[in-house]
Amino acid sequence: MTTVTPTTATQAAPLEHWFPTTGQGPGTSFETSLRSRTLEQTEALARACLPRCGITRVADVTDLDILGIPVFHTMRPGAAPGLNTVTSGKGVTAATSRVSALMEAIERTWCEPPRDRVPLRASYAQLRARDVPVLDPRRLVLRRGHSWTPEEPISWWPAREVVSGLEVLVPALAVFTPFPGECGMLRSNTIGLASGNNPQEALLHGLLEAVEQDCTAFGETLRRGYRIRPRSLPSGPAELLERFQQAGVEVQVFGYVNDIGVPALFATTDDTNAEDGMLINGGAGCSPDPVVSLTRALTEAAQSRLAVINGAREDLNAQAYRRHASYEEMREMYRRWSLDRVETDFADEFRNESTGSTAGDLDLVLSRLEKAGLTVVLAVELAPEDLPFSVTKVIVPGLEVHHHDPRRLGLRLHRELVRTGRAKPLS
Ligand SMILES: Nc1ncnc2c1ncn2[C@@H]1O[C@H](COP(=O)(O)OP(=O)(O)OP(=O)(O)O)[C@@H](O)[C@H]1O
Ligand SMILES: [Mg+2]
Repeated sequence: MTTVTPTTATQAAPLEHWFPTTGQGPGTSFETSLRSRTLEQTEALARACLPRCGITRVADVTDLDILGIPVFHTMRPGAAPGLNTVTSGKGVTAATSRVSALMEAIERTWCEPPRDRVPLRASYAQLRARDVPVLDPRRLVLRRGHSWTPEEPISWWPAREVVSGLEVLVPALAVFTPFPGECGMLRSNTIGLASGNNPQEALLHGLLEAVEQDCTAFGETLRRGYRIRPRSLPSGPAELLERFQQAGVEVQVFGYVNDIGVPALFATTDDTNAEDGMLINGGAGCSPDPVVSLTRALTEAAQSRLAVINGAREDLNAQAYRRHASYEEMREMYRRWSLDRVETDFADEFRNESTGSTAGDLDLVLSRLEKAGLTVVLAVELAPEDLPFSVTKVIVPGLEVHHHDPRRLGLRLHRELVRTGRAKPLS
């Protein structure tokens, strides 16, 4: 792995290979991720953190649905306005799903802006003039129509450049959620936010989540992606698929591949018995192991159904329009959305490239990003020092989120839109 240099950082001599060390044993896989502690160990430590995080309830909601795929919800009534008070967990087993719900609630607790430390206020121009290593905010794919200028004071937070270990200031609104959308630059969000048993684990998970969004932005915007033949699925995902089908829920599976070369897999579900437009759902997953990605996608699709059935998540309000459309209208939208995908067998396009270890997979993802020209990867540790977990926000300048926020369009996706005749070149 070669070293990379953030925009203006020149301080310490870059290290050849900087990662936070784990201090833990070899990785354990739970069908959906590589982990360094057993589920029992993680759960015991997470439960001990519940009062501190304001988590009041961990609920098994699996049986509110007919699928039997385990889904847990956690309640954090004190969540800052703008964050959900309910977080969800998914997995193939109840224990995996319960730990995922607990760890997501912990993740969300520490992504809120800290009360005991104020971000630095300065303009980009001032920081540059003082030779402070700082990320040029324009590299974050800003929203069309923003009013930011290099002279405008905004809030900054220190991040660490993952490969070199250099400290670089980044806009605080790219770190914390919720955070005011200063100068309309972007809406704070949890993309690239992850918790883990150690910093490496959180870093890998956050990185893969950011890559998943990038692949999805390409797949959705360019309407490009594979439709994977259900009969070609490997045994684990095939068993999950069968559970959906037995309950009258039709599943389609798609694969989004782009220049990074770590594909995202996507599963959509349509409840043909319920005939309910709210129960046309989806889930996504991204990992160097496509079986892991697909298992994550299918279990997340089950989780999305339960979010609707349970009805307690605040962000569901954004989907209220579906109640005012008929099932036929929603199904027609869904049918049109899923057209024009190239059909493939799973094994023809998706191969396992996982190294089986967190450090190895981190190295793989970082080198794929570098090859795609995404040479700067920044991470911020958000967990307090005495928490037995890491909570990391990963920021990769240049990754796309156009499907998430249509007013943000980066150079890579724009270039592809131009190449395929869908957009004009920048003048
Ligand atoms: N066994 C585990 N040990 C430690 N952390 C875990 C474990 N399982 C999940 N987590 C953490 O819990 C959080 C939720 O994980 P999960 O894989 O369920 O969701 P996700 O893919 O991040 O979902 P979303 O798309 O909703 O953000 C993540 O931060 C993840 O790293
Ligand atoms: Mg997440």
